Amino acid sequence: MKDKLSTESYKGVRDFYPEDQQFLNYLLSTYRGVAKKFGYAEYHASILEPAELYKAKGADNEELINEQTYTFTDRGGREVTLRPEMTPTVARMVAAKRREFGFPLRLFSIPNVFRYERPQRGRLREHWQLNVDIFGSESFAADAEIIQVAYEVMKAFGAEENDFVIKVGSRAFVNALALELDLNEESAAKLVGLLDRKNKMDASEFEAGLADLGVPKEKLDGSNVPQDVAAVLDFLRSVGIENAVFDPSIVRGFAYYTGVVFEVFDTHEDNNRALFGGGRYDNLTGMFDNESVTGVGFGMGDVTMHDFLAVRNMLPEYKAPTHVYLAVASEAEVQHALSIAQELRSEGVNVAVDFCDKKLADQIKNAAKNKVPHLIVIGQNEIASGNFSVRDLVHGQETPMSRAELSSFFLNR
Ligand code: HAM
Repeated sequence: MKDKLSTESYKGVRDFYPEDQQFLNYLLSTYRGVAKKFGYAEYHASILEPAELYKAKGADNEELINEQTYTFTDRGGREVTLRPEMTPTVARMVAAKRREFGFPLRLFSIPNVFRYERPQRGRLREHWQLNVDIFGSESFAADAEIIQVAYEVMKAFGAEENDFVIKVGSRAFVNALALELDLNEESAAKLVGLLDRKNKMDASEFEAGLADLGVPKEKLDGSNVPQDVAAVLDFLRSVGIENAVFDPSIVRGFAYYTGVVFEVFDTHEDNNRALFGGGRYDNLTGMFDNESVTGVGFGMGDVTMHDFLAVRNMLPEYKAPTHVYLAVASEAEVQHALSIAQELRSEGVNVAVDFCDKKLADQIKNAAKNKVPHLIVIGQNEIASGNFSVRDLVHGQETPMSRAELSSFFLNR
């Protein structure tokens, strides 16, 4: 016998069964609601990008380009990459229509992005990522607004301030430090790399790394808040955000960041990790255009957000989209059930009908398996009398009802 194919999805990606899709939809609509509240307009683009978008100087970090992209050659010989992030794409789109847009320009998108990473907790090969970016403003108020949007997204999921901490750093500060200490380009890059990995090593290893580079550790103890970070923290306090702190080790991996950068961390002991982050990038549209437009934004993935909610038992319960299932006593009632269903649908009720390929008991069992909450058996009696019995498949009770009462019963729950 021929070997059958596996039903498993490709390594590191997920299938979204109805319950998973409903959760994803909940994330997406929460993301959308907050972004729109702050005046951001939604955009979208194709998953496919020319590979060169990620190879241009300053576009990205090397690990991402060399080891983590899905790149292939199309039938016309072009090198194509599945986008590993959205920022180069949105920079391209902004550069293309720079003269048509008014600035500051507020844009958001929720793309799926692809990275060839080792799948682990919080890291997969495909995830959905809210991207919120503001272009064309140099004001620290723009950096603060981006962090405020991030904060409000957390709040919209029901998080309290002590559930997360916003750590704010500054690439400009690290660059100035490298200049002050006369580090060459290679050592400066090593310093950024060391800071980026600080959380993954113990204090002595970190300090040894600093010593190797000739950086006095007092320079990075967080006691002197750089001016850009202070200005942003000030704005945040003025809108009532108290859980943002300066952390000199926050630098973020991408080469394109130039200014204030931030990461949001979960404070839960079972999920003590970075949830998402972003920052300011001054030169990204410069890849396409002589005149650069400054941008600041963040990317927030669905996987880490799921984990944040899961450790707190804050995942919403699945609710089947179908209000009611019409089972049929015999094949003779199928047509009638179909026409009742059509009437109910016109009244706004979501209805599925059984075609009577199975016994009534099995019809009921199958509706319950698919988590449909209510069921009505359509038989000769119901058709003749116009009276129905609504069965609650979760709690088991039955409620008698006239045809006229049905839709308001379903629509009011
Ligand atoms: P990033 O830190 O690489 O930044 O990704 C942003 C967020 O996406 C991460 O913090 C995490 O929530 C999620 N994420 C990233 N990789 C994975 C993965 N393999 N599996 C699951 N989730 C993941 C960026 O991508 C920047 N382009 C964000 C940005 C927008 N900066 C300015 N504007």
